[in-house]
Formats: sequence, structure tokens, C-alpha cells
Amino acid sequence: MQHSDALARLWPASAIRARAGDLELRWIDDELLLQLAELAGRGIHSPDAMPFEHPWTRGTADEVARSVLTYQWNQRGNVSPEAFVLEFAVLHEGVPVGLQGLTAKDWSVLRRVNSGSWLGLEHQGRGIGTRMRALALHLAFEGFGAVEATSGAFADNAPSNAVSRRLGYEPDGAFMVAREGVAVPHNRYVMSRERWESQRPAHAALLGSPVELTGVEAIRTPIGA
Ligand SMILES: CC(C)(COP(=O)(O)OP(=O)(O)OC[C@H]1O[C@@H](n2cnc3c(N)ncnc32)[C@H](O)[C@@H]1OP(=O)(O)O)[C@@H](O)C(=O)NCCC(=O)NCCS
Repeated sequence: MQHSDALARLWPASAIRARAGDLELRWIDDELLLQLAELAGRGIHSPDAMPFEHPWTRGTADEVARSVLTYQWNQRGNVSPEAFVLEFAVLHEGVPVGLQGLTAKDWSVLRRVNSGSWLGLEHQGRGIGTRMRALALHLAFEGFGAVEATSGAFADNAPSNAVSRRLGYEPDGAFMVAREGVAVPHNRYVMSRERWESQRPAHAALLGSPVELTGVEAIRTPIGA
């Protein structure tokens, strides 16, 4: 039995994949994790910006890379019928370019996912961020059977807010968040299943190729369900 088959049997979430043409979301094994950590170390945003509530992107390249490793190692086992933290490598033409997360609390009751993401600086501004979120929404609604998806971004994060608007999320207010010692407005967005259905043709046009999903039973019938 191949290593990946043995892992998928014991830990089904490791087999989750979503692909649309040249874009793929893939469970993060250690080899991919190292590449993503080094990518993050090379920079995710300019020094005068801070897109994250916890400023993990401050520090040397090695410190940032190490924080990607420890965060991901800590999250990996968090998949159960009640809740999950699924972090996927984003591969563009086979190259790891960033990370797209889908998390859920009280999943069996609410069927709601929240998304978060980043791309290496060198891969930003080329439409990948919009396409990877569209792919993540397809995985959540079509693959996992979600009924609602949420996302959020600091008001001063133009690209992230633009991604949510472009994909048709509804604005859902804002709340103040303490970011590096300053109160900053953080916008919330919500996408119902009905709204996603109505946006599907636009998302399909953005993705450009049919979506192939693999391993989604891990969430539909998770371990311990
Ligand atoms: C947010 C992020 C994932 C978006 O991905 P991306 O590939 O750079 O974004 P896209 O190229 O798909 O562009 C998305 C939109 O942002 C707009 N945009 C891109 N850069 C911009 C800028 N500097 N200022 C204003 N708008 C900008 C684009 O025009 C596009 O809007 P449109 O669809 O209305 O034309 C990426 O920029 C990133 O990783 N940023 C740093 C980390 C981060 O902010 N993560 C999210 C935390 S909430």
C-alpha cells in the first residue's frame, strides 16, 4: 500500500482535493508545508500593512517560516464531526503559491464554514486569490454540503475585500479588532447556499474549467461520526 493510501485510510482528510484546470487545493503534507513556510518567509505583504489579527508575519524570514510550520502542525489533527480546521496548499500550475483555509465550529449543527487565505507576494494581483476562494466555496458547498460561508477582512485590506465582493458575498457589518495595539474595523461577509447557487455561473466563468473534487467524504462522514 502506498504511503498516501495508508494515510488516507487512517486520516481521510488527507485525501481532500479540489481542482479546476491549473488551480488546485490540496491537503498539506510535510513536503508542501516546508515549501509554503519558505514562501511565507519571503513575504506576504508590505511592512506597512497587516492583514492578520495576530501579526505572525512580522519577524525574520526564518521566524515567519517557523510560525507557519508550528501553526499547521497544531491544526492538522482538528477534524471531527463537531468542528474542523482544514488548511489547503494552493497550487498554481503545480507550484505552491499560498494557503486557503476552511474552518467550522459546531459543524454538525450549523454547516457553516469560514475561510482565510494568503498568497506569497510574488503570486498576488494576478487573479489567483479570487479563483482560489471560488474553488474553496465550491469545495464547501458542493463537496462538504455547507449551507453558509463567511469571510472577513480588515477594512484597509483592499484585495481581500475585493475578492469577497467580486464573488458575490453579502456585507454583514463590521466590528473593531485590536490589531498591533490599534482598533481597526474588520468587515464581515456572508454567502448563503442560495446565493452561492445564483453565483455559480459567474464563479464557473472565473474558474475556467470544471471543478473536480476528491476525498470529500472525510467531511460528509468524518471519523467518529
Ligand atoms: C488577499 C489575497 C489572497 C488576494 O489575492 P490576489 O490574487 O492578490 O487578488 P486578485 O488578483 O484575485 O485580486 C482581487 C481583487 O483585488 C483587487 N486588488 C488587487 N490588489 C489591489 C490593491 N493593491 N489595491 C486595491 N485593489 C487591489 C483586484 O483588482 C481585484 O479586484 P476586482 O476583482 O474588483 O478587479 C492576496 O492579496 C494576499 O494574500 N494578501 C495578503 C494576505 C491577506 O491579505 N490575506 C487575507 C487576510 S483577510
